[in-house]
Amino acid sequence: MMRLLSHFQSSVGKKMVIALTGLGLVVFVMFHMLGNLQLFEGPHALNSYAAFLRDMPIVLWTVRIGLLSMAVFHVGLALQLSIRNRRARPVEYTLHRYRQASIASRTMAISGMILLLFVGFHLLHLTAGVIDPTFSDRRDPDGYRDVYGKVIHAFQNPFMVLLYLAGQLGLGLHLSHAIAGSVQTMGFEHAALTRLLKALGPMIGLIVVLGNVAIILAVFLGIVR
Ligand code: HEM
Repeated sequence: MMRLLSHFQSSVGKKMVIALTGLGLVVFVMFHMLGNLQLFEGPHALNSYAAFLRDMPIVLWTVRIGLLSMAVFHVGLALQLSIRNRRARPVEYTLHRYRQASIASRTMAISGMILLLFVGFHLLHLTAGVIDPTFSDRRDPDGYRDVYGKVIHAFQNPFMVLLYLAGQLGLGLHLSHAIAGSVQTMGFEHAALTRLLKALGPMIGLIVVLGNVAIILAVFLGIVR
C-alpha cells in the first residue's frame, strides 16, 4: 500500500494519474457530443434524452462526482508538474525540445487552461443557467425541461458562438495530443497497438470537435431552429 502511494507521489505516478483521468474525461466528452447530436432529431429527442439522464439521480450524481474528481486530479497534478518542469528546465533544453514537438504538445498547458475556462463558463451557462437564465425553467409541450430551446437560444447569439468556437479550438488542440500522450505515458508493450492508438488520438479529437462545431453552426446559420 505504502509502495503504491509513493509510486503515485513520484513524477511517473503523477503522469499516470493525469493520463488515466484524462482518458476518462475524453470518454465523457465523446458521449456528451454524441448525446448532443440529438439536437438534429428535434426537440423531443434532445429533451427526452436529457430527462432520461436526470431521471436517474444516483447514476447522474455518481457520474458528476466521478467527473469532478477526475477533473480535479487531472488539472491539479498537470499544473503541479508543469510548474515544477518550468522551474527545473534550462533554457537551451526548452529551445531544443520545441524543434521536435508538435504545436499541440507544446501548447497542452495553454489549451488546457482555455478548456478549463470554457467548461467553467459552459456549466454556469447551460447547466446552472446563471449566465443566461432565459430557458432555465421552461418546459416543452410534453412537460420536459426545454434543453433544446436553451441550446437554440444560446447559439443564435454571435457572442456565444464565438466563445463556444474558442472553446472548441482549445478542446481540439488539447485532444489531438492528449490521447497519444496518455498512451505514451502508460507505455504499452505492444508497438503496433501503440502506433494505432497514437494515430487514433488526433482523429478522435477531430470527430468530437467537428460534432460540436456542427451543432453550434447549424443553429447559428438557422439550419436547425
Ligand atoms: C457545442 C458543444 C456543446 C453543447 C451544445 C453542450 C450542451 C450541453 C447542455 C445542454 C448541457 C446541460 C444539460 C442539461 O441541462 O440537462 C451540458 C452540460 C454539460 N456539458 Fe456540455 N455541451 C457542449 C460541449 C461541452 C464540452 C466540450 C464539454 C467538456 C469539455 C462539456 C461539458 C459539460 C458538462 C461537464 C456538463 C454538465 C453535465 C451534468 O449535468 O452533470 N460540454 N452541455
